Amino acid sequence: MNVSVSSEASPQLEDWQRLDILSRNREEPHTSFVPFPTTESATLGQRLLSSRYKLLNGNWKFSYAERPSGAPPNFHTDHFDTSSWQNITVPGNWQMQGHGKPNYSNVRYPYPVDPPHVPSDNSVGCYRRNFAVPAEWDGTRLFVTFDGVDSAFQVWVNGHFVGYSQGSHMPAEFEITEASRPGVNSISVKVWQWCDGSYLEDQDMWRLSGIFRDVFLTSRPEKFIRDVRIGTILDSEYRDAVLIVDLDSDWIAKLEGRLIDSSGTVVLTSELVSGGQTRVDVVNPDKWNAEQPNLYSLIVTAFGDDNEVLEAARFDVGFRTIAVDGIRLLLNGTPLTLRGVNHHDTHPDKGHTMSRDDLERDIVLMKQYNVNTVRTSHYPPDSCFLELCDRYGLYVIDEADIETHGFGEVGNLHQISNDPEWQESYVDRARRMVERDRNHPSIIMWSLGNESGYGCNHEAMMAWIRASDLSRPIHYEQAFENKSVDIVSCMYPTIEGLILQGQKTDDPRPYFMCEYAHAMGNGPGSLKEYWDAIETYPRLLGGCVWEWADHGIRQKTESGLEWFAYGGDFEDHPNDGNFCIDGLVSADRIPHQGLIELKKLYEPIRALSTNIADGTITIHNRYQFRNLNDVTAAWSINCNGVTVQTGSLSDLNIQAGASMDVSIPTISQVKRDGEYFFDIRFFAPSSHAWCTTTHEIAFAQFAYPVDHAKSVSRSNELHRVTAKETQHALVMQGEDFALYFSKDDGSLSHWESNNVEFLTCAPRINVWRAPTDNDVHMARGWSAAGYDRLMRRLVNMEWFIVSDNSVEVVVTSVHSAPAKRPAFDSVIRYTVTGTGSVEMNVTIEPREGSIAFPRLGLELGLPVSFSQFAWYGNGPHDSYSDRKESVRVGHFNGNVADQYHPYVRPQEYGNKTDVRWALVTNGSGAGLLASGDSFINASVHQYSLRNLTDSRHTYDLVPDSTTWLYLDHAQCGLGSESCGPGPLPEYLLNY
Ligand code: GAL
Ligand code: MG
Repeated sequence: MNVSVSSEASPQLEDWQRLDILSRNREEPHTSFVPFPTTESATLGQRLLSSRYKLLNGNWKFSYAERPSGAPPNFHTDHFDTSSWQNITVPGNWQMQGHGKPNYSNVRYPYPVDPPHVPSDNSVGCYRRNFAVPAEWDGTRLFVTFDGVDSAFQVWVNGHFVGYSQGSHMPAEFEITEASRPGVNSISVKVWQWCDGSYLEDQDMWRLSGIFRDVFLTSRPEKFIRDVRIGTILDSEYRDAVLIVDLDSDWIAKLEGRLIDSSGTVVLTSELVSGGQTRVDVVNPDKWNAEQPNLYSLIVTAFGDDNEVLEAARFDVGFRTIAVDGIRLLLNGTPLTLRGVNHHDTHPDKGHTMSRDDLERDIVLMKQYNVNTVRTSHYPPDSCFLELCDRYGLYVIDEADIETHGFGEVGNLHQISNDPEWQESYVDRARRMVERDRNHPSIIMWSLGNESGYGCNHEAMMAWIRASDLSRPIHYEQAFENKSVDIVSCMYPTIEGLILQGQKTDDPRPYFMCEYAHAMGNGPGSLKEYWDAIETYPRLLGGCVWEWADHGIRQKTESGLEWFAYGGDFEDHPNDGNFCIDGLVSADRIPHQGLIELKKLYEPIRALSTNIADGTITIHNRYQFRNLNDVTAAWSINCNGVTVQTGSLSDLNIQAGASMDVSIPTISQVKRDGEYFFDIRFFAPSSHAWCTTTHEIAFAQFAYPVDHAKSVSRSNELHRVTAKETQHALVMQGEDFALYFSKDDGSLSHWESNNVEFLTCAPRINVWRAPTDNDVHMARGWSAAGYDRLMRRLVNMEWFIVSDNSVEVVVTSVHSAPAKRPAFDSVIRYTVTGTGSVEMNVTIEPREGSIAFPRLGLELGLPVSFSQFAWYGNGPHDSYSDRKESVRVGHFNGNVADQYHPYVRPQEYGNKTDVRWALVTNGSGAGLLASGDSFINASVHQYSLRNLTDSRHTYDLVPDSTTWLYLDHAQCGLGSESCGPGPLPEYLLNY
């Protein structure tokens, strides 16, 4: 006899392992709404106050197992004892609560690519809690809804199997009427970390599991409203509307719809067809757009045979149409420009769980920073996010929960996208998104997902969407120019490439950057050039910066110092390091400098200088819908950084898209005794819910073309300087200072003034900067060239007495790194005058083969007591050659330590551009003032360049005993090269 294991003996596949099972007993998807007992309570619309709605968030009992066999058997049975289990907070990810560990992977699947199979070592989380069914729910139908569970789960109530679902970012609703009972009930949920569906969830993010969005119960009458689909059509003038209500319900005696405006007035009441469509004319309703998010409420009430209210529900309605018209995307007939960002769900302590408050904070920040569009990368968000976008006014690109990027790593990115066996899995995700979200006026496009190649399953998704919702265009980046999509989109184009698309005449569709400007670390650069192109070519629809927030996970060192973890910090594999730390805001939502720059490029009001000398500027209204008549403006004229005159502007009656010239004081009205600037600031009207009227929406600054005498320094004439050589030094002395030049290496080794030593480190030529995240590729070249470890050899040192009042020292050197050929030669000509000033004239000559520098300038060290920094130049925040639209010229000052910005992986920070002078002082008022013969870059660091370069986390930084001052001729631009183009050629430091 043969001994073999027959196929019958092999274990039966479970639902989470089966490609053909996506759910069991899950209700059909529908728009999200809350059932209320009365029309009045529905009108108030407070879900937590509805007696028909009960959140099951909070404390659950939890048991974690590393593989399915370790899960407690029968934990779902009625009387199972969980008293020894741990507690877990729902919603939450179990890895964020001490079970398993977070794993950050970008493209690579964290398990073998063997679809649809996932490893047998698949962690399982068992959840259990009790809930009460109130007496008033007796005889009603009960449902439980899970808004998001990663990745697959089964549910039992009182030991009865209720259902199964997968697809992490969409709700799953199950009827539990039969399984439940009056009084105390138990609910048990078993969640698998991976399932076949995980192959569709290869988004670039922390891989986290569990019940991460709300869980709630609803109580419904025997016959109830299943779905209410709302549409609005506008007439050809975009004035009058037809409201379409498509109602799916059991047969109900009477259904009523009540449309209420924002002031609470009932605009109309209409009977609604049960199980069919009702069309109602609405005369000239207030329209919805992101700038004027006018919403109505539609209250739908179902009545029983005796005219008793069965249930009621409330929906936000925004009257608007969206349509692609040739190369433009029109909202209510007006072409849109999308000033967007990409938003992931990420919270420093809760992982993928974000409360309504967390989401609202993001939305308010987006509004304050002039963002008008958000792409929900790369899955549908919690419904409340969309509700808030409707209310605050943001255009949304709602994206299906699909990314299969990791197939690219094994040679066929299209593999499952083009495999009909996966079709149902794809279409299910499109369907659940569209069915849930279709009522939101904020959604202006559907997206089929991200980075999944292209295949027949995308076409099946589109066919399904188009059969169900023709009111919105479809975008999918990896369809590229395929005719199937309504909008062509791309990621991270070069400026040049974008311009070519703008100029294209043989593709009649709008062109959209669903991702651009990788906001990783100290960046991104060239936002200005992107927006110059977008404003030039109507085909360019705009774009969404990658991305909104860093995905850092908050940690503390033993001594209590806070830091943010990234891939690898949990010994997680595979990991992609800090590539998930690429937000415009930090994980705890502090804006990075890139967001401040973005705000300027996205500003809805732009002032332009037409003829500033003759007293004219032009104000351009870049809103697409609103007039500026409720905006206020304040201006000031500043001379050498000091305000000399102020005024205000009102009555800016400027239509959306239009411009107006306004008069300002002319050049003849200002004096010629300094550098004059005209600054104008625009403030928000009181009608905005997301800010106060002191909120600055936009600003501009113009220089008056006044030729003015340069500030004069103390005259040399009266002050003598002497020079003499000692054994080791050349010493120069004036009335109240002494300078020592080392005869060993020609450096200015001491500088005393009034008995205060200024230097801890002689000024030296420096071409290094601690690489930014976006420097990543260039930085490899820089360090290969040895730019971080140059050594100097003195070639020659000479000195001359020029006069009684001035002495010159000329130092010629060669700069080379160990094991490398010399990189460049330098000559520094020091002119020391009796006033105590030192002029350094620095010339460098790169040797053949030297590559472009990260920066070019001087580094010098001052005693740490020199802790105050002031400058006259661009501020108040950092700027770089390709990120300086958002700064203005002024006097700024602060502590040296305040110039630091805590990028999660330490890097270059704090540069100020166009600096006229910079001053570092100590507490007793002694200071070193630096200026250039043209504008310079200046910065101060409390960390050494070596420490800043080598640190991987903020806790690696050690405040130095020296204040480091950098005076640069130039710094390399920032670019976006960690995932996109590097700095433009004009921002590189080539010879
Ligand atoms: C894109 C991708 C994003 C993110 C980004 C890099 O290609 O769509 O999900 O990975 O690159 O941060
Ligand atoms: Mg990806």
